[in-house]
Amino acid sequence: MRFDIITVLPGLLESPFAHSILQRAQKKGLCEIVVHNLRDYANNKHKSVDDYPYGGGSGMVMQIEPFASCIEQLQKAREYDEVIFMTPDGETLNQSIANHLSTKGNIILLCGHYKGIDQRIRDIFVTRELSIGDYVLSGGELPAAVLVDAVVRLIPGVLSDETSALSDSFQGGLLDAPVYTRPADWRGHKVPDVLLSGNEAAIHAWRDEQALTRTKERRPDLFEE
Ligand code: ADE
Repeated sequence: MRFDIITVLPGLLESPFAHSILQRAQKKGLCEIVVHNLRDYANNKHKSVDDYPYGGGSGMVMQIEPFASCIEQLQKAREYDEVIFMTPDGETLNQSIANHLSTKGNIILLCGHYKGIDQRIRDIFVTRELSIGDYVLSGGELPAAVLVDAVVRLIPGVLSDETSALSDSFQGGLLDAPVYTRPADWRGHKVPDVLLSGNEAAIHAWRDEQALTRTKERRPDLFEE
Protein backbone atom coordinates (compact mmCIF):
# COMPACT_ATOMS: atom_id res chain seq x y z
CA MET A 1 0.00 0.00 0.00
CA ARG A 2 1.23 3.49 -0.82
CA PHE A 3 0.26 6.91 0.57
CA ASP A 4 1.24 10.13 -1.20
CA ILE A 5 0.63 13.11 1.07
CA ILE A 6 0.54 16.60 -0.44
CA THR A 7 1.26 19.41 2.02
CA VAL A 8 2.76 22.90 2.39
CA LEU A 9 4.37 21.74 5.67
CA PRO A 10 6.32 18.57 4.85
CA GLY A 11 8.41 19.08 8.00
CA LEU A 12 5.33 18.40 10.13
CA LEU A 13 5.16 14.89 8.69
CA GLU A 14 8.81 13.93 9.11
CA SER A 15 8.43 12.40 12.54
CA PRO A 16 5.01 10.66 12.77
CA PHE A 17 5.98 7.91 10.34
CA ALA A 18 9.56 7.45 11.55
CA HIS A 19 8.84 5.45 14.72
CA SER A 20 7.49 2.21 16.03
CA ILE A 21 4.81 0.37 14.05
CA LEU A 22 4.68 2.78 11.10
CA GLN A 23 8.45 2.72 10.71
CA ARG A 24 8.50 -1.08 10.88
CA ALA A 25 5.69 -1.36 8.30
CA GLN A 26 7.74 0.69 5.85
CA LYS A 27 10.95 -1.23 6.56
CA LYS A 28 9.12 -4.51 5.97
CA GLY A 29 7.94 -3.12 2.61
CA LEU A 30 4.28 -3.38 3.65
CA CYS A 31 3.63 0.28 2.98
CA GLU A 32 5.27 3.31 1.45
CA ILE A 33 4.58 6.84 2.67
CA VAL A 34 5.76 9.67 0.43
CA VAL A 35 5.40 13.32 1.40
CA HIS A 36 5.29 15.98 -1.34
CA ASN A 37 5.90 19.68 -0.82
CA LEU A 38 3.07 21.54 -2.56
CA ARG A 39 5.37 24.55 -3.07
CA ASP A 40 7.47 22.47 -5.48
CA TYR A 41 4.43 22.62 -7.78
CA ALA A 42 3.84 26.38 -7.51
CA ASN A 43 4.09 28.13 -10.87
CA ASN A 44 5.39 31.50 -9.62
CA LYS A 45 8.77 32.69 -8.44
CA HIS A 46 7.61 33.30 -4.86
CA LYS A 47 6.40 29.69 -4.60
CA SER A 48 3.08 30.90 -3.20
CA VAL A 49 0.22 28.42 -3.33
CA ASP A 50 -2.64 30.58 -2.05
CA ASP A 51 -4.54 33.69 -3.13
CA TYR A 52 -7.35 36.01 -2.04
CA PRO A 53 -10.88 34.59 -2.11
CA TYR A 54 -13.17 35.64 -4.96
CA GLY A 55 -16.06 37.62 -3.55
CA GLY A 56 -13.94 38.93 -0.69
CA GLY A 57 -13.79 37.80 2.91
CA SER A 58 -11.05 36.93 5.34
CA GLY A 59 -8.32 34.35 4.86
CA MET A 60 -6.47 33.01 1.86
CA VAL A 61 -7.57 30.13 -0.35
CA MET A 62 -5.26 27.42 -1.68
CA GLN A 63 -5.06 27.54 -5.46
CA ILE A 64 -6.02 24.78 -7.86
CA GLU A 65 -2.90 24.71 -10.07
CA PRO A 66 -0.25 23.43 -7.61
CA PHE A 67 -2.56 20.65 -6.34
CA ALA A 68 -3.64 19.75 -9.88
CA SER A 69 -0.08 19.60 -11.13
CA CYS A 70 1.12 17.39 -8.24
CA ILE A 71 -1.90 15.04 -8.42
CA GLU A 72 -1.65 14.70 -12.21
CA GLN A 73 2.06 13.92 -12.00
CA LEU A 74 1.38 11.19 -9.43
CA GLN A 75 -1.50 9.78 -11.46
CA LYS A 76 0.75 9.49 -14.49
CA ALA A 77 3.07 7.21 -12.54
CA ARG A 78 0.47 4.82 -11.07
CA GLU A 79 -3.24 4.29 -10.50
CA TYR A 80 -4.80 5.61 -7.32
CA ASP A 81 -7.84 4.14 -5.57
CA GLU A 82 -8.68 7.32 -3.69
CA VAL A 83 -7.81 11.01 -3.53
CA ILE A 84 -8.78 11.98 0.02
CA PHE A 85 -9.08 15.56 1.28
CA MET A 86 -8.66 15.95 5.05
CA THR A 87 -11.20 18.57 6.14
CA PRO A 88 -13.34 19.26 9.23
CA ASP A 89 -16.46 19.24 7.04
CA GLY A 90 -15.77 15.72 5.74
CA GLU A 91 -17.27 12.41 6.84
CA THR A 92 -15.99 11.50 10.32
CA LEU A 93 -13.27 8.85 10.22
CA ASN A 94 -14.16 5.67 12.09
CA GLN A 95 -12.88 2.09 12.36
CA SER A 96 -15.05 0.84 9.55
CA ILE A 97 -13.66 3.46 7.12
CA ALA A 98 -10.10 2.61 8.28
CA ASN A 99 -10.80 -1.10 7.67
CA HIS A 100 -12.11 -0.32 4.20
CA LEU A 101 -9.12 1.87 3.28
CA SER A 102 -6.64 -0.77 4.49
CA THR A 103 -7.75 -2.98 1.58
CA LYS A 104 -6.77 -0.32 -0.99
CA GLY A 105 -3.54 -0.04 -2.99
CA ASN A 106 -2.59 3.60 -3.54
CA ILE A 107 -4.06 6.66 -1.86
CA ILE A 108 -3.36 10.39 -2.27
CA LEU A 109 -4.00 12.59 0.78
CA LEU A 110 -4.48 16.35 0.42
CA CYS A 111 -3.78 18.59 3.40
CA GLY A 112 -5.56 21.94 3.41
CA HIS A 113 -4.58 25.19 5.15
CA TYR A 114 -5.73 28.78 5.52
CA LYS A 115 -9.41 29.34 4.74
CA GLY A 116 -9.64 26.21 2.61
CA ILE A 117 -8.86 24.97 -0.88
CA ASP A 118 -10.42 26.08 -4.16
CA GLN A 119 -13.70 24.14 -4.44
CA ARG A 120 -12.73 22.96 -7.93
CA ILE A 121 -9.96 20.77 -6.50
CA ARG A 122 -12.62 19.03 -4.43
CA ASP A 123 -15.04 18.78 -7.35
CA ILE A 124 -12.54 17.54 -9.91
CA PHE A 125 -9.92 15.45 -8.11
CA VAL A 126 -11.16 14.44 -4.67
CA THR A 127 -12.97 11.08 -4.30
CA ARG A 128 -13.55 11.27 -0.55
CA GLU A 129 -13.46 13.90 2.23
CA LEU A 130 -12.61 12.87 5.78
CA SER A 131 -12.59 14.62 9.15
CA ILE A 132 -10.95 13.26 12.30
CA GLY A 133 -13.52 14.89 14.57
CA ASP A 134 -15.65 17.92 15.30
CA TYR A 135 -12.89 20.41 16.02
CA VAL A 136 -10.76 22.55 13.74
CA LEU A 137 -6.99 22.08 13.48
CA SER A 138 -4.54 24.43 11.79
CA GLY A 139 -4.14 22.15 8.80
CA GLY A 140 -4.73 18.68 7.41
CA GLU A 141 -1.25 17.29 8.26
CA LEU A 142 -2.04 15.87 11.70
CA PRO A 143 -5.37 14.45 10.46
CA ALA A 144 -3.48 12.82 7.54
CA ALA A 145 -1.02 11.27 10.02
CA VAL A 146 -3.94 9.99 12.12
CA LEU A 147 -5.55 8.41 9.07
CA VAL A 148 -2.30 6.75 7.91
CA ASP A 149 -1.69 5.32 11.40
CA ALA A 150 -5.25 3.98 11.72
CA VAL A 151 -5.02 2.32 8.29
CA VAL A 152 -1.44 1.00 8.20
CA ARG A 153 -1.74 -0.96 11.46
CA LEU A 154 -4.56 -2.95 9.82
CA ILE A 155 -2.44 -4.12 6.87
CA PRO A 156 -1.78 -7.86 7.34
CA GLY A 157 1.74 -8.44 8.68
CA VAL A 158 2.17 -4.97 10.19
CA LEU A 159 1.33 -5.93 13.78
CA SER A 160 3.45 -8.74 15.15
CA ASP A 161 0.48 -10.22 17.03
CA GLU A 162 -1.95 -10.61 14.15
CA THR A 163 -4.94 -10.83 16.42
CA SER A 164 -4.33 -7.63 18.31
CA ALA A 165 -5.74 -5.27 15.65
CA LEU A 166 -8.89 -7.37 15.74
CA SER A 167 -9.28 -7.10 19.51
CA ASP A 168 -8.87 -3.28 19.49
CA SER A 169 -11.54 -1.09 20.95
CA PHE A 170 -14.19 -0.43 18.23
CA GLN A 171 -13.13 -3.38 16.09
CA GLY A 172 -15.76 -5.66 17.62
CA GLY A 173 -18.17 -2.74 18.03
CA LEU A 174 -17.24 -2.48 21.75
CA LEU A 175 -14.58 -0.71 23.81
CA ASP A 176 -11.74 -2.78 25.31
CA ALA A 177 -11.79 -4.24 28.81
CA PRO A 178 -9.25 -2.74 31.27
CA VAL A 179 -5.74 -4.26 31.33
CA TYR A 180 -3.20 -4.71 34.15
CA THR A 181 0.42 -5.77 34.55
CA ARG A 182 2.78 -6.42 37.51
CA PRO A 183 2.77 -5.73 40.39
CA ALA A 184 -0.48 -7.45 41.41
CA ASP A 185 -0.72 -5.11 44.40
CA TRP A 186 0.49 -1.49 44.10
CA ARG A 187 0.10 0.39 47.37
CA GLY A 188 -3.00 -1.59 48.13
CA HIS A 189 -4.54 -1.10 44.65
CA LYS A 190 -5.10 -4.70 43.57
CA VAL A 191 -5.50 -6.34 40.19
CA PRO A 192 -8.92 -8.07 39.95
CA ASP A 193 -8.63 -11.61 41.38
CA VAL A 194 -10.08 -13.25 38.29
CA LEU A 195 -7.05 -12.17 36.20
CA LEU A 196 -4.74 -14.02 38.60
CA SER A 197 -6.95 -17.12 38.76
CA GLY A 198 -5.57 -18.90 35.71
CA ASN A 199 -9.19 -19.78 34.82
CA GLU A 200 -9.31 -18.86 31.12
CA ALA A 201 -13.07 -19.19 30.77
CA ALA A 202 -13.65 -16.95 33.78
CA ILE A 203 -11.12 -14.39 32.46
CA HIS A 204 -12.82 -14.39 29.08
CA ALA A 205 -16.26 -13.91 30.64
CA TRP A 206 -14.93 -11.09 32.87
CA ARG A 207 -13.39 -9.27 29.89
CA ASP A 208 -16.60 -9.58 27.86
CA GLU A 209 -18.62 -8.25 30.76
CA GLN A 210 -16.20 -5.33 31.35
CA ALA A 211 -16.22 -4.43 27.64
CA LEU A 212 -20.01 -4.34 27.67
CA THR A 213 -20.21 -2.25 30.85
CA ARG A 214 -17.58 0.22 29.62
CA THR A 215 -19.26 0.64 26.28
CA LYS A 216 -22.66 1.11 27.89
CA GLU A 217 -21.30 3.77 30.26
CA ARG A 218 -18.93 5.65 27.97
CA ARG A 219 -20.42 5.17 24.52
CA PRO A 220 -24.15 4.48 24.74
CA ASP A 221 -24.34 5.26 21.00
CA LEU A 222 -22.07 2.26 20.20
CA PHE A 223 -23.92 0.09 22.69
CA GLU A 224 -27.25 0.78 20.95
CA GLU A 225 -25.76 -0.30 17.62
N1 ADE B 1 -8.30 20.07 9.00
C1 ADE B 1 -8.52 20.91 10.02
N2 ADE B 1 -9.25 20.34 10.98
C2 ADE B 1 -9.50 19.06 10.56
C3 ADE B 1 -10.21 17.97 11.11
N3 ADE B 1 -10.83 18.04 12.28
N4 ADE B 1 -10.25 16.83 10.39
C4 ADE B 1 -9.65 16.75 9.19
N5 ADE B 1 -8.97 17.74 8.62
C5 ADE B 1 -8.89 18.90 9.28
